[in-house]
Amino acid sequence: MGAQVEKPSRAEAIFMGIVFLLMAAGLVTSIIAFTMAMSRAAASPGPVYTVAIIGAAGLEDLDRPTLSPVFNLTVRINNTGNKLEECLGSFSAAAVSYGDAFLARGSVPPFCAGKEHESVRDATAWGQDVVVPRFLRERLAGELGRGEGEVDVQVTTPAGLYCYDTVLVCKVKIGGGPCPCWRDHVYPRPAPAAGS
Ligand SMILES: *[C@@H]1O[C@H](CO)[C@@H](O)[C@H](O)[C@H]1NC(C)=O
Ligand SMILES: *[C@@H]1O[C@H](CO)[C@@H](O)[C@H](O)[C@H]1NC(C)=O
Repeated sequence: MGAQVEKPSRAEAIFMGIVFLLMAAGLVTSIIAFTMAMSRAAASPGPVYTVAIIGAAGLEDLDRPTLSPVFNLTVRINNTGNKLEECLGSFSAAAVSYGDAFLARGSVPPFCAGKEHESVRDATAWGQDVVVPRFLRERLAGELGRGEGEVDVQVTTPAGLYCYDTVLVCKVKIGGGPCPCWRDHVYPRPAPAAGS
């Protein structure tokens, strides 16, 4: 009786041993595959964001104290050197400024570039009667006259899945080609407590 009970339990032990070995082999394979994928992703140059201003209006009369500028922009994700999909998230907005003076603002639609692909979206930023100090208007007029007008563009994506805002910081030539952006993450500060 006792011997009959032992036999199936030994077979069971062998079976469990094989199952355990297979699981361990599977786990090791997964870890190796994951590590290789991550090191490939880390070795790739990553996504490159660029912004171009393809049209601008409202900068003709810089003698007036207020401006109503319109900028047609393109935002491009060059993901050709990246092994992972890259996306600009929802509710992104582009803000255009010059020497810290706000000029224009507009929303940028969410979009993605698949791995090793490029993707582009258009956006329009505008400002209505924005006040720009005289010294900046004079400086901008000079730069535009020399064909060197350059503005700051920041594309901010509010924190969604992650706990930080993503900001693309770009210096963009008016009427020039795509200009590279520097990407930063900003952790929003908690709102000050009431009464403080
Ligand atoms: C911006 O783009 C819109 C639509 O494509 C066009 O109608 C408008 O004239 C453009 N404005 C400038 C300043 O390029
Ligand atoms: C995208 O990036 C690749 C290299 O990463 C480069 O060869 C290519 O010219 C870029 N495309 C554009 C439109 O700039």
